[in-house]
Amino acid sequence: NEQIPFHGDVQAGIVTPSQNFVCFAAFDLITTRAEDLPVLLRKWTDAAARMTEGRPVGDENSNPNLPPADTGEAFGLSPSKLTFTFGVGPALFDSRFGLAAKRPSALGELPRFPGDQLRAEWCGGDIGVQVCADDLQVAFHAVRNLARIARGTAVLRWTQEGFQRTAAASGSGDTPRNLLGFKDGTANPDTKDAKLMNQVVWVQPSDEQGWMRGGSYMVVRRIRIRVEVWDRTHLNEQEATFGRHRDSGAPLGAKSEFDPVQLDAKTAAGDPVIPVNAHVRIARGDGSMQILRRSYSYSSGIDRQTGQLDAGLLFISYQRDPFKQFVPMQQRLAKMDALNEYISHVGSAVFACFPGVQPGGYIGEGLF
Ligand code: HEM
Repeated sequence: NEQIPFHGDVQAGIVTPSQNFVCFAAFDLITTRAEDLPVLLRKWTDAAARMTEGRPVGDENSNPNLPPADTGEAFGLSPSKLTFTFGVGPALFDSRFGLAAKRPSALGELPRFPGDQLRAEWCGGDIGVQVCADDLQVAFHAVRNLARIARGTAVLRWTQEGFQRTAAASGSGDTPRNLLGFKDGTANPDTKDAKLMNQVVWVQPSDEQGWMRGGSYMVVRRIRIRVEVWDRTHLNEQEATFGRHRDSGAPLGAKSEFDPVQLDAKTAAGDPVIPVNAHVRIARGDGSMQILRRSYSYSSGIDRQTGQLDAGLLFISYQRDPFKQFVPMQQRLAKMDALNEYISHVGSAVFACFPGVQPGGYIGEGLF
């Protein structure tokens, strides 16, 4: 089935197995009227529900004197597992809309991390929407129509498309590889383990702000990878950078991808088999905090200043509390990760993603 239900207890696009493409869009509200926000969210809900079924936005209209309700490029295409994941950024809770008391303490601007090279053009947003689909035209059509519906109320602030190997190219469903050639996602927590997802991803009844129960926090980082530098690095060093073998994805010192990561293992000379600054070691820390990664690669042409590829990872993670999960992890990585030689974080945003919506309701209704 090419259709992923839009309605449900939780939003689609979080524990949904990753589709082939993402079109990420951050919007800023330009209206000053608080009542425009729920109206926009209801319109977006109706449009999103239709598009996930492969139907055009709005009622068919054949009046030659009006622009068509739907932009048309997805006519006749399958829904292609289209999902929408809507969230709101910390900026929405400033003084503009009277929502300050509704801001969960887990939703705040992320701190600046050592080495950050953030550019305003890839940061922030009042509203963030992760649109994923197995077809890029279907995903693009969805973002374009959300922007069109928002006209007069909200404008696009930044967007980023991303890809991974398509399911058709892989066949076997193996872990996808990132642009550094390594399998990426191996040690992700199991999305089929409902108990674990409640611990790691979903906001619980005991957490703050009732309107977020069943929601999750999304962190987005646009991470540029200096692929040209990486491509001149010998294989031993590439593998030491991650602490895993490139071809098999196995942890250093092990045989298969899913073998346990043995952080204590030592070589005959007494050195750690997985180096002290290896990405997996630093990311894991003491293992007490996990995140659900749902990243995509990106390629956005050439950096005109250097003539090098503007390519990297559109890192997306979901967690129950970014300040307890993502932030300490990224603080460790920013300080010690061997990978830092090859990457720089150029964009950043965080969004509180609403719980799911039932038929007749609208996304984010609990906020009002
Ligand atoms: C593991 C790549 C950034 C958190 C891994 C692995 C790779 C990888 C290849 C090993 C396979 C796997 O378990 O998925 C990258 C690249 C990045 C990046 C290329 C940037 C361009 C980040 C960031 C975070 C992060 C920003 C979080 C702050 C993790 C975690 C693991 C991991 C938690 C699993 C560690 C474990 O428990 O074994 N990453 N990563 N990564 N990464 Fe990253």
